[in-house]
Amino acid sequence: MIFKLEHPIFREVAAAAKDIGVPAYVVGGYVRDTLLGRPCKDIDFVCVGSGIELAKATAKRIDPSIKVSVFKNFGTAMFRYEDLELEFVGARKESYSRDSRKPAVEEGTLEDDQNRRDFTINALAVDLGEGHFGEIIDSFGGLKDLEDRIIRTPLDPDITFSDDPLRMLRAIRFSAQLGFQIEQETYDAIARNAERIDIISMERVRDEINKIILSPKPSSGFKPLYDSGILERIFPELVALQGVEIKDGVGHKDNFYHTIQVLDNLSKNTDDLYLRWSAIMHDIGKARTKRFDDKAGWTFHGHEVVGARMVKPIFSRFKLPLNEHMKFVQKMVLLHLRPISLTRENITDSAIRRLLFDAGDDIDSLMKLCKADITSKNKQKVERFLKNFELVEEKLAEIEEKDQVRNFQPPVSGEEIMEYFDIKPSRPVGQIKNAIKEAILDGEIPNDRDAAWNLMIKLGNEMGLKKA
Ligand code: CTP
Repeated sequence: MIFKLEHPIFREVAAAAKDIGVPAYVVGGYVRDTLLGRPCKDIDFVCVGSGIELAKATAKRIDPSIKVSVFKNFGTAMFRYEDLELEFVGARKESYSRDSRKPAVEEGTLEDDQNRRDFTINALAVDLGEGHFGEIIDSFGGLKDLEDRIIRTPLDPDITFSDDPLRMLRAIRFSAQLGFQIEQETYDAIARNAERIDIISMERVRDEINKIILSPKPSSGFKPLYDSGILERIFPELVALQGVEIKDGVGHKDNFYHTIQVLDNLSKNTDDLYLRWSAIMHDIGKARTKRFDDKAGWTFHGHEVVGARMVKPIFSRFKLPLNEHMKFVQKMVLLHLRPISLTRENITDSAIRRLLFDAGDDIDSLMKLCKADITSKNKQKVERFLKNFELVEEKLAEIEEKDQVRNFQPPVSGEEIMEYFDIKPSRPVGQIKNAIKEAILDGEIPNDRDAAWNLMIKLGNEMGLKKA
């Protein structure tokens, strides 16, 4: 089978390889993705010889001013060309070890190199040699696995996974990302070797988890993660949500399966990584707050507060950024019950104003999360909730247009209060500011300067303050 190597870069690499007398091949993700019709901008080349020399020779041919980055210890080199990232490596014999600091010295054949790759679909090579240009070398049945949509290791999976245990996560990630099945023996080896994930750095684990979260149907990654025992090792708080307890004939829903269902629902409406993380975390506090009450049955009081507090330690462990992205997730977790509670009581203007004030610009994200949170099997119930949400959304738009509290700025500043009454920074300043805010949110006064100014004078006078 001939692989279409349309981009002119391939002829350049082929010519450079011929010049320096090394056989060269395109390998890995580029071949896989192109065959799947997925765009791919990273191209990996393997040559039987020095990858660094091939990179330099290629760059020299195309444009001598190109800067080639050389990683001597790894025996690799890369450069960018147009929107492509080209990486060159010499075929190696020893086990694949991306994080390894030991120099990669032992040269090997193309076959050695293919042997040490993770999956058959990633172990396809395309020949760049004269007379063979574009020929696919498929030593492990990768083409058939691509067609059958199967993830399988080229060698005994115990060996492939022990070379780099991250590959267990990669198997699950590729299966979620591409909608592939993990072949049974490969899967069994993941379950058997799950504990070896412990030696992998959290940064690498996180990158795979993020890719699973960003896949079209993330539950198809989280289920095998859970079943294989890997999830327990990297994310015990999520596993703690699994299970249904029954007392006096009363059960509650399985919050793990609910959570990944919410994530799937939400994923239909957003590609935002941190909004998707919010779905994962929204009920994370439920294991710690679960109680059984004779009257109310199972309750999870305050799980949104406990959950919001769990975000930081979990983000730290996953080496996720502890910045505004984390704050966003905390906010989503904390507020995730608010819109749904509005649907139960009367939707008052002041409740809507308070929600707008607390959610600010993240109100639309919050509404998406809350809609995704409806996972009842009872169709009528779902319909009813969604209808209510529509009402909430209409109200939100109406109130926002009228009162503009979404990005609330105090209409009277602390400085103005101090100046008017000629007082120093002190408690009354904060009290007056806060009372004005509350009055606006409660709808007692409109969100405008005159009304706020008058209220300031009134409140100050009540406190015994006088105009300066
Ligand atoms: N590879 C491997 N074991 C790993 C990582 C990578 O064998 N733990 C090999 C695979 O052959 C892979 C190639 O190195 O195709 C390139 O790796 P990488 O760029 O990380 O992944 P891609 O397969 O290109 O896929 P993605 O970009 O989606 O991660």
